[in-house]
Amino acid sequence: MHAATLVFLSVLSTAFGFQVTRPSLSQGWTNNGPQTVAWDRVATDASNFSIVLTNLDRSVLSTDIVLADFVDATSASSISVSQPSSGWPTTGGSYRVNLVKSKNEQTTIYAQSTEFNITAGAATESAKSTSATSSSAGTASRSQSTATGSSTDSADGSASTDSSMSSPLTTGNSASGNFALSAGVVTAAVAMIGSVLL
Ligand SMILES: *[C@@H]1O[C@H](CO)[C@@H](O)[C@H](O)[C@H]1NC(C)=O
Ligand SMILES: *[C@@H]1O[C@H](CO)[C@@H](O)[C@H](O)[C@H]1NC(C)=O
Repeated sequence: MHAATLVFLSVLSTAFGFQVTRPSLSQGWTNNGPQTVAWDRVATDASNFSIVLTNLDRSVLSTDIVLADFVDATSASSISVSQPSSGWPTTGGSYRVNLVKSKNEQTTIYAQSTEFNITAGAATESAKSTSATSSSAGTASRSQSTATGSSTDSADGSASTDSSMSSPLTTGNSASGNFALSAGVVTAAVAMIGSVLL
């Protein structure tokens, strides 16, 4: 198995620049809701790929799952993949995400993530930022746009976890007094974001 891995890695590194940066061992997935796949790409890489969830341990995952087909690799460096219709597979370790040429050419692998865990979880990254955005959207986006006009779009969008998490934090710090007076729900949401980030 070691020899096979080495051969495989050397083929990858000579032919392609794609790298999967998430999921990883330190940033795994939960079995609840959409999960994030992020990658690095160089100009000579393919312009699109498909995303496959796999596991060497076939007792954990008997067949690979195609999570996304024909992803545009050039206009973004991350994507949120929906929970498969059959649900996420059993929680455990040694999962990997493959970026492959297409749904029908899964043996042409551009890049492979490190092994990562799928853990039981009520709160995914996406769920956190979605609830924060929706519960504080009215007040937050207004003060946000006066402060830094350009970041309003990313604050409202759900695509990027990082930008949507940083915006509520900024808002919470600058206007936490107003929030506390206006709505307990918003205060709770801001407090929750604060505790998640700290
Ligand atoms: C998708 O990527 C393949 C390379 O794998 C390329 O040949 C094809 O033109 C791309 N399609 C589009 C629409 O970008
Ligand atoms: C991943 O799961 C394994 C057990 O399958 C566990 O030993 C390991 O600590 C977990 N790693 C992380 C980063 O949670």
